[in-house]
Amino acid sequence: MKKTVLFSFLVLITMNLKAQTQQEIEVQKKITQLISELTIEEKVALCSGRDDWSTMPIERLDIPWIWLADGPHGLRRAPATNKPGYGDQLPATCFPTASALAATWDVDLVYKVGQTLGDEAQAQGVSVLLGPGVNIKRSVLGGRNFEYFSEDPILSGEMGAAYINGVQSQGVGTSLKHFTANNVETMRMFNNSNVDTRTLHELYLTPFEIAVKKAQPWTVMACYNRVQGEYGTQSEFLLTDILKKDWGFKGIVVSDWFAIVDRVAAMKAGMHLEMPNVSPVNNAIAVEAIKNGELDIAVVDALVKEILTVVFKAKALQKEGLELNVEKDHAFARKVASEAATLLKNEQNVLPISKDTYKKVAIIGEFAAAPRYQGNGSSQVRPTKLDSALEIIKNEYGKDIEITYAQGYNLADDNDTSLISEAKKVAAEADVVLVFSGLPLQYESEGIDRTHINMPPSHNKLISEISAVQKNTVVVLTNGSAVTMPWLNNVSGVLETWLGGQAGAGGIADVLFGKVNPSGKLAETFPMRLEDTPAFFNFPGEQGDVLYGERIFVGYRYYDGRKIEPLFPFGYGLSYTSFEYSDLKVSSKNTTDKEGLTVSVTIKNTGKVTGKEIVQLYVSDTKSTLQRPEKELKKFVKIELVPGESKEVSFKLNSRDFSYFDAKRNMWIAESGEYVIAAAASSRDIKLSETINLQSTQQVPLMFDEYTFFLEYWNNKQTREILLEYMPNWIRGIVTEGDEAEIREYQGFMVEHPMIKYPYITHGEITHEQVIELVEKCKELTYKP
Ligand code: BGC
Repeated sequence: MKKTVLFSFLVLITMNLKAQTQQEIEVQKKITQLISELTIEEKVALCSGRDDWSTMPIERLDIPWIWLADGPHGLRRAPATNKPGYGDQLPATCFPTASALAATWDVDLVYKVGQTLGDEAQAQGVSVLLGPGVNIKRSVLGGRNFEYFSEDPILSGEMGAAYINGVQSQGVGTSLKHFTANNVETMRMFNNSNVDTRTLHELYLTPFEIAVKKAQPWTVMACYNRVQGEYGTQSEFLLTDILKKDWGFKGIVVSDWFAIVDRVAAMKAGMHLEMPNVSPVNNAIAVEAIKNGELDIAVVDALVKEILTVVFKAKALQKEGLELNVEKDHAFARKVASEAATLLKNEQNVLPISKDTYKKVAIIGEFAAAPRYQGNGSSQVRPTKLDSALEIIKNEYGKDIEITYAQGYNLADDNDTSLISEAKKVAAEADVVLVFSGLPLQYESEGIDRTHINMPPSHNKLISEISAVQKNTVVVLTNGSAVTMPWLNNVSGVLETWLGGQAGAGGIADVLFGKVNPSGKLAETFPMRLEDTPAFFNFPGEQGDVLYGERIFVGYRYYDGRKIEPLFPFGYGLSYTSFEYSDLKVSSKNTTDKEGLTVSVTIKNTGKVTGKEIVQLYVSDTKSTLQRPEKELKKFVKIELVPGESKEVSFKLNSRDFSYFDAKRNMWIAESGEYVIAAAASSRDIKLSETINLQSTQQVPLMFDEYTFFLEYWNNKQTREILLEYMPNWIRGIVTEGDEAEIREYQGFMVEHPMIKYPYITHGEITHEQVIELVEKCKELTYKP
């Protein structure tokens, strides 16, 4: 670029930036003016919805209202803002649910899903789409698992950020939900997520943190449940300290619907918008609290200012006259479903189906004709169209192949096995059988947890009996979360298709018939049995308390640590081609937390068809002060390769990727020492690894106190000096002569007590006051971890 051109380009950019800032300044001025004109009652009313789905307008001051609608995998827009919108919602494209989106591991694709959702929201006048949900799938029993991405915080956070960036690129806001530790449906309005601070940060805050920092959602939705004893809607720690101060969240907090318990406490904690408009009761309480001085009007003004900023932004970005692009969005939803399909078993290459290998294909199972394509609850979309696998396969793939069908089971009765004998006959006469089965709608629902992870008895029995008469049996699963597979050894193929949305049937057919090479991988571990799962004894909790007893060991972190063989591990999924990993390179074998590390690896498609591989990068701390998972996913990428093609992918690891959260010091710490960096095809398929040495440059507080043991004070050079000042005589008696630093062997018992006891252990050589003084001196000290 010529210098002059570059200069004018820069001037233009600067002007544009200035213009934007100028516009923002104008809006802020206007808001300040409005706040000075609003009455207390109006201010409080603005902090609450007008009705089910809209914010409060103030007509006298020309303050508009905006529309909020569910979310997350499509729009559920009610016909009017004051209607609930169940059953009569406007049609919209129903995309695959979050479980499926996560199985694509494709952030670009999820961004595009977000863009399309944003477009559809614009077409329906919706300004804020209530999603995505990035809660961790702590237990396989979680009723809303279909609506969440993963058991892993990094994967959940990255998916959430991509979705938000996509939606918001279209001038529509999102609501990142449900903040946080919202992992159980049973008693969801009251349950306390009794989670320790370290686990809270490492697992349950991290996905929100990633999404907030990378995508700045316009709104965050506070959860129903309590977290560490405090309601999510009134936790100053969560809403102000963490969200705003630590992460720099600039948007507004919206309550989950009817989640507020104490409106005044919620407002003080940083809760902006109570949804929906419950009744005038809460507003009256807040007005009274302002009038009697309990609630500072400055707090309310700050909330109002931020609410109006979002409202005016939404209005400025609203596009008029748009319409749903039904066919285009449907076709895209089909592509997304095909990318999510996860091939779990493919013995003797039973798939893909081609006319050269099979002349007659039997399709068995009512799901093929009446698809299950989304979950139960507030996320239910009324689809613009709905494909069935039976129709799609007959129409698009049935020209040269004979297609037969049998219902196989009765969706109205899980125990009805009367249809199996007919299905067996159809199966025996075919060359290959596709059994469409899985979980009926009522098995996976918001508000209700699962009590087991089995498919209906009729489905399991059908598969077992079919596989006895047909060696080429392929099970096509439809479910939003893990299931057991008692028939796994008897079937040749298993394709997990999740809840694939309205066009899921087409996506599934494309994979079954080889038009699309499957490339999904599991974003959640499939256990062998419920008893093997991490939260088995602590789910759904009792007496209003959910003990997160498994701590940081959720999902693969647990199965790895306990050496439990899962049915299918996290990160697993097959392809119609094969890949080879080579050349794992690290930028340095010795690095610091500040420098971080660049890791690269080469992937080659060694098979005969084009395919996509999801490369996963795990980090393990080989020796750590605190307990750590065997390994943790830190990075991933999905790449496409034609046969014979190789590509090098690279990842940048920073200090946080090596860190644990130290709850005592309230900080992330990357300890010095050895770390193993592994490039893997799944959490149980490490292809290549390298060991590196990391030198920490952090200086962290020592944090010894009066309950720290004498021995710890002694083992630390800095504090030893201080001990020697205060209790030299007693120390002389317990150390080895000639080696002053060495404690005499038989003195072990005397040195393993908290410092607070040493006034009497030393027979008064150090007084209680001196212990406190000593502790104070040591408080200033720091060390390199
Ligand atoms: C759900 C939210 C949803 C809201 C509005 C609540 O019950 O938990 O996810 O966005 O209702 O429908």
